[in-house]
Amino acid sequence: MKILFIGDVVGSPGRDMVQEYLPKLKEKYRPHMIIVNGENAASGKGITEKIYKQFLEWGAQVITMGNHTWDKKDIFAFIDDARYMIRPANFPEGTPGKGIVYYHLNGIKVAVLNLQGRTFLPALDDPFRKVDQLIAEAKQQTNLIFLDFHAEATSEKQAMGWYVDGRVSAIVGTHTHTQTADERILPQGTAYITDAGMTGPYDAILGTDKEAVLKKFLTSLPIRFEVDKKGRTQLNGVITTIDEKTGQASRVERILINDDHPFFG
Ligand SMILES: [Fe+2]
Ligand SMILES: [Fe+2]
Repeated sequence: MKILFIGDVVGSPGRDMVQEYLPKLKEKYRPHMIIVNGENAASGKGITEKIYKQFLEWGAQVITMGNHTWDKKDIFAFIDDARYMIRPANFPEGTPGKGIVYYHLNGIKVAVLNLQGRTFLPALDDPFRKVDQLIAEAKQQTNLIFLDFHAEATSEKQAMGWYVDGRVSAIVGTHTHTQTADERILPQGTAYITDAGMTGPYDAILGTDKEAVLKKFLTSLPIRFEVDKKGRTQLNGVITTIDEKTGQASRVERILINDDHPFFG
């Protein structure tokens, strides 16, 4: 089976790209399942119920989150009812929401996991110990396990890749908003990429208006960051092919769509 993953969708430019390109990507790759990281989908910070539902309407099956999960107050009103939304599983015990979800597809079950790294990010429970627990739980139901590891440091993501090799079908990094060119199948059959990249503004800095970020670097003054809505846009993601029985990945391909890397249907 093929799973399409879309990297951090940033604001309305990102949502517009998802709406425009999902039909084209579906036609080209024929994915059985689509997962979208939505932690920046509402004006760059967090997500709303309306946007969550829009992603599902456009064809996504599962929405993953990250360190921006709680940025829009709206989240607390709907996360417990949002069946197909997950937030990092290593958030403190008792936090709203969940970090694992099972998606059913013609008798096949796919477990999707979300975890957050701890290097250069707020202190959380150990994602390595947590992933052991989640894999043990998921394995009782399925060999098809997909992990969105939301982390800053490339080293922490590579470490997690090696740690789960052969135990999950795919691990896709998110959070840096910059796609890495290191996609590979690890020796025990796990598809890996350090970061899937982002979907949204292209002539910007990680999706944010570049003048504001530059001003911050040049002056260190407090500056309000906004999603860039003036420039061109991009879509970043990854498509993996996984054996339905063994849960092993056989193929992983980056998806990079922008004016420098045009889409060919
Ligand atoms: Fe992000
Ligand atoms: Fe993030």
